[in-house]
Amino acid sequence: MSAKATSDVWWKNAVVYCLDVETFLDSDGDGCGDLKGLTDRLDYLAGLGVSCLWLMPFYPSNDRDDGYDITDFYGIDGRLGTPGDFAEMIRTASDRGIRVVADLVVNHTSDQHPWFQAARSDRDSPYRDFYVWSDDPPDNPPAPTFPDQETSVWTFDEQAGQYYLHRFYRHQPDLNVTNPKLRDEIVKMMGFWLQLGMSGFRVDAVPFLLETLGVDAAEADSLPDPHTYLRELRAFVGRRTGDGILLGEVNLPFEQQTAFFGSDYGDELTMQFDFVGMQQLYLGLARGDARPLAAALTARPTPPDSCQWASFVRNHDELTLDKLSDDERREVFDAFGPDPSMQVFGRGLARRLPPMMGGDERRVRMIYSLLFALPGTPVLFYGEEIGMGEHPDVSGRQAVRTPMQWTPDESGGFSRGPADVFPAPVVTGVFGPGNVNVADQLNDPDSLLSFMQRLTRRYRSCPELGWGSCEVLSQPSSAVLALQTSWDDASVITLHNFADVAAEVRFRPTLPPGDVILTELASGSTIRPDRDGSVQLRLEPYDHSWLRVTDTSSREIT
Ligand code: NOJ
Repeated sequence: MSAKATSDVWWKNAVVYCLDVETFLDSDGDGCGDLKGLTDRLDYLAGLGVSCLWLMPFYPSNDRDDGYDITDFYGIDGRLGTPGDFAEMIRTASDRGIRVVADLVVNHTSDQHPWFQAARSDRDSPYRDFYVWSDDPPDNPPAPTFPDQETSVWTFDEQAGQYYLHRFYRHQPDLNVTNPKLRDEIVKMMGFWLQLGMSGFRVDAVPFLLETLGVDAAEADSLPDPHTYLRELRAFVGRRTGDGILLGEVNLPFEQQTAFFGSDYGDELTMQFDFVGMQQLYLGLARGDARPLAAALTARPTPPDSCQWASFVRNHDELTLDKLSDDERREVFDAFGPDPSMQVFGRGLARRLPPMMGGDERRVRMIYSLLFALPGTPVLFYGEEIGMGEHPDVSGRQAVRTPMQWTPDESGGFSRGPADVFPAPVVTGVFGPGNVNVADQLNDPDSLLSFMQRLTRRYRSCPELGWGSCEVLSQPSSAVLALQTSWDDASVITLHNFADVAAEVRFRPTLPPGDVILTELASGSTIRPDRDGSVQLRLEPYDHSWLRVTDTSSREIT
């Protein structure tokens, strides 16, 4: 079965793990995580079942947006190590069967980037047109992305004598990809990192990146259509690597997301995060009702074969709830982040999953089981595998970007350096390293970490989850999500109970002819469908179950 899952489409059933080098492990005691520290922990990640690392920006930056304000696209932030350390890390990862992708942040640069410095100081500079300028910004500009910090997406620059566009912070001027020289620079830079062994990019803020093309394309026939540009980037990565990917951040309604796969040919973004499904998941969790997510999965467009959805329950940003109605968002806030200090930008929660679930590990495990059961590629944020919490005293999105917790001591084994120079304070209290750390969980078969290891293995042994098509099975309980995902002759049924009460379910899966049994993949126990092909079973509160469909002649290894 898995032999068909050829290696050039490795991403179809990858396990992606996102981390920021500066908060992962400090190898030299200077208080900042570094590439050598990450390299030391690649065996840990391989043991967890990670097959692709997504590195948050590690480039030189002005460090006013956690590295997303880049000052040099070709460098390594000196605090994290050297280009040599980077090459060692990539080589070691590859040796352990782990691919590496990194953030491609080309919607904007830092205002300290030499391009912007040149652009603002001279109207005739070749770099002036790398950015978007105006003497007279439009009357109805789009709202700023970070409304707590910015009141407009246009800021007047005294030195330049004009306004410049910035969809994010004012210190992050937007690049103007209508400029062909800039487009050349972007692919040259991508080629550089691919040549160093990277397997593609997580593309930051894709709709904003293409916006300048969209706006100007109507006026200038010579400009590529925005989607042609995205197609060119995917083709470039394909040419240079054969199997590299573009994993895109596109937080738009499903109808608009489809176009970013390249609707007809699947030749644009390789994968897109499912922001809509993620938000419906939280709405369902707040209600103890699986139907919002079931509806989202039913409405979700099937990506072209050469593309894939990426599933996640948390990431490094706020848990955005911007696609919910005001009332729905209020429900989720009330359930998982009632204190205004937990909320950001009026649209999201700066929290990690376990504290949001009141530390109820049954619920947390059910949600991660579901993450891996969803059709697509699961993406984890570092620390999720051990149940890390956020730091309640750190404001905004930084609350979830605290140092990784390796050991029970106060610094979490992150660094032997002085805590006051750590990039973020270590979590304290119930979710602090004393209670939540890798060392204690590693050899405990009942730990969350061991559970996650089993999940990644189970996910990898069910290639239909990455490759197949999925159907929501009808059954009587509104709290239960029953999915059957099939690919060729393989099929797996997954059941997840969103509620704190037990549920009796009866459903009728699609079964092959012959003598069929369902093997529960966690316990190895088997269920024989009734004569009419229906299956009945009971799920305990927040229970979950994965059932492989086989005929009685084949033996499942569970
Ligand atoms: C999206 C990233 O996910 C976010 O963390 C960052 O602040 C913005 N892009 C701006 O770069």
